[in-house]
Amino acid sequence: MQVLPKGFRHIPNFLDFPAQKALVETIRSIVEQAPLYRPEMPTNGKPFSVRMTNCGQLGWVSDQKGGYRYQDTHPKTDLPWPAMPNELLKIWDEISGIEYQPEACLINFYDQSAKMGLHQDKDEADFSYPVVSISLGDDGLLRVGGTSRKEKTESIWLNSGDVVVMGGDARLAYHGVDRIRFRSSRLLPKGGRVNLTLRVVT
Ligand code: SIN
Ligand code: MN
Repeated sequence: MQVLPKGFRHIPNFLDFPAQKALVETIRSIVEQAPLYRPEMPTNGKPFSVRMTNCGQLGWVSDQKGGYRYQDTHPKTDLPWPAMPNELLKIWDEISGIEYQPEACLINFYDQSAKMGLHQDKDEADFSYPVVSISLGDDGLLRVGGTSRKEKTESIWLNSGDVVVMGGDARLAYHGVDRIRFRSSRLLPKGGRVNLTLRVVT
C-alpha cells in the first residue's frame, strides 16, 4: 500500500461552485493586467507547456538566463504583479492557520495537452511554511512522491474547488501533473485547468 507523505492534505470541494465562479472572475481580471506567458526551462530554454502568471508582492518565474526565481515584476510587461486578492488571503488564513501572509500566488493554466513534470517547490527561503494549492476547472492528475525523486509516487485526481496543502514532511515532496481531463468541468467555458499556489517566499 502506498501512503501520501505526512503533511500532505487533500481537501475535496473546499470551494463551492459560486465561490469557484467568483474566484475565476478575480483571476480573469489579474490575467488582464498580468498576461499568461510561457516560462522556459533553465537548462535548455525549452518553453513550459503550462502558461503562468502571478499575483502578490512576488512572482515565480523561470527562463534560460536566470533560472527559477522570484521577482517583483512580470517578465514580459516589467510591471509589478497585481495585488493578492482578499479572497485568496481568506483561503490561506482558513487553511493554514498561519498569521504570516503569503507573498506569492503562482497562477498556472493548463490547456488540453499541458502537464508539469515531477519537481519540488524549493525556491522559497523557509520550508516551515506550507504551500496551499487551489484547483479550478478541469480535473488534473496530481502525482505525489517523497522527498527524493527515487521514491514511489501516488496519483490523485484534483477536481475544481479542491485544495491541497503541502506542509511538514510533505513540504518538499516531489509532485507534478501528468494530464488533465479536458472539458471535465463546466467552470471555464473553453475548458482547461487553473491552479493557484500560495507561498511564503522570504
Ligand atoms: C505546481 O506544482 O506549481 C502546480 C501543481 C498543480 O497544478 O496542481
Ligand atoms: Mn510545485
